[in-house]
Amino acid sequence: MTGNVESPFAAVKVTERVYWVGAVDWGIRDFHGYATRRGSTYNAYLVVGDKIALIDTVKAPFVGEMLARVASVVNPAGIDYVISNHAEMDHSGGLPEVLAAVKPEKVFASTMGVKALAEHFALAQDVTPVKEGESLSLGNATLQFVEARMLHWPDSMMSYLAEERLLFSNDAFGMHLASSRRFADEIEPAVLEEEAARYYANILLPLSPLVGKLLEKVGKLGLAIDVIAPSHGPVWRKDPEHIAARYGEWAAGGAKRKAVVAYDTMWQSTAAMARAVGDGLAAAGVETVVVPLRESHRSDVATEVLEAGALLVGSPTLNNGIFPTVADMLTYLKGLKPRNLVGAAFGSYGWSGEAVAQMEEALRGMGVSVVEEGLRVKYVPDGEALWGCAALGRRAAEKLDF
Ligand code: FEO
Repeated sequence: MTGNVESPFAAVKVTERVYWVGAVDWGIRDFHGYATRRGSTYNAYLVVGDKIALIDTVKAPFVGEMLARVASVVNPAGIDYVISNHAEMDHSGGLPEVLAAVKPEKVFASTMGVKALAEHFALAQDVTPVKEGESLSLGNATLQFVEARMLHWPDSMMSYLAEERLLFSNDAFGMHLASSRRFADEIEPAVLEEEAARYYANILLPLSPLVGKLLEKVGKLGLAIDVIAPSHGPVWRKDPEHIAARYGEWAAGGAKRKAVVAYDTMWQSTAAMARAVGDGLAAAGVETVVVPLRESHRSDVATEVLEAGALLVGSPTLNNGIFPTVADMLTYLKGLKPRNLVGAAFGSYGWSGEAVAQMEEALRGMGVSVVEEGLRVKYVPDGEALWGCAALGRRAAEKLDF
């Protein structure tokens, strides 16, 4: 790292021609509804060839930091091209200020990106559309553009730097992880696995069929990849095949023999039922996670569900309906389109007890195969009722025929 006179923020060299010039957001804890307990990074990259290209920018409040990192390598006014791989504001928010400061010769985005940027900002200059397979010469290096529509917006695009065998993968292969380390091989593998899975579950899961197609396309294009440089989290410079393989597995939707029991409770009755359901599943040899929703986040459930084969949901009936934390989780999960799940609903009630049927409807609405009619217990479960809950867990386990 080298600093410059005005600012301590410095670039980090990634490869011979590529520098990380992004920003670390240590403080973000909610990324449009997803709990980012370890913060995030917004990765912009500088490619220094005969011509100089900036790949993406950062979230608007971090532009000064980003430009300082650029200035530790080159004068920002020397940037010839800006490439916007994605119009979402965590990557394009700084674009208006960057264009005003840098005045590059040209700005590039995908065809859909040109439209999306125009719908976000009044930019100081035109954006040139680029299509799949087109490339941009930097003199002694070439950037090739690879469309990645709907990963995770219609405009999303990747850029490939052949001379460094480096893929700027934008949102794909990323994670929300603030760290002083810029490379995945410098970070604890368990943290990488947890945060990569959390990111996939909460951002990319509903797009899994497209992830599978993208992996196929990259294979067919014959792009040799030594380094994957995503727009969030660390750069994969050693063994990038590992994260690509994990994406292949997640996209294929292969479930482990695992169950998630998510619940909330008013007077601990549904909590007791949830624990008994979980015990029944565990007794049948199923890896089981019981998630108390009042103390957890909807995105924790999504992360646990990523590799699960069963989802059992518990709620008391409150005002003739589902308890709000449970309804929130079900709404969120529906949007993520989990696949290949069996499930069931259960809950305690006082007099009307509609929540269980409503949860069953919600589970069916998200494509879960409901194994049997939901289990309701009036007021407080006695020993027999808890045995019934454990039996529900055992019957759900029988449906996990793998
Ligand atoms: Fe990281 Fe889709 O933005």
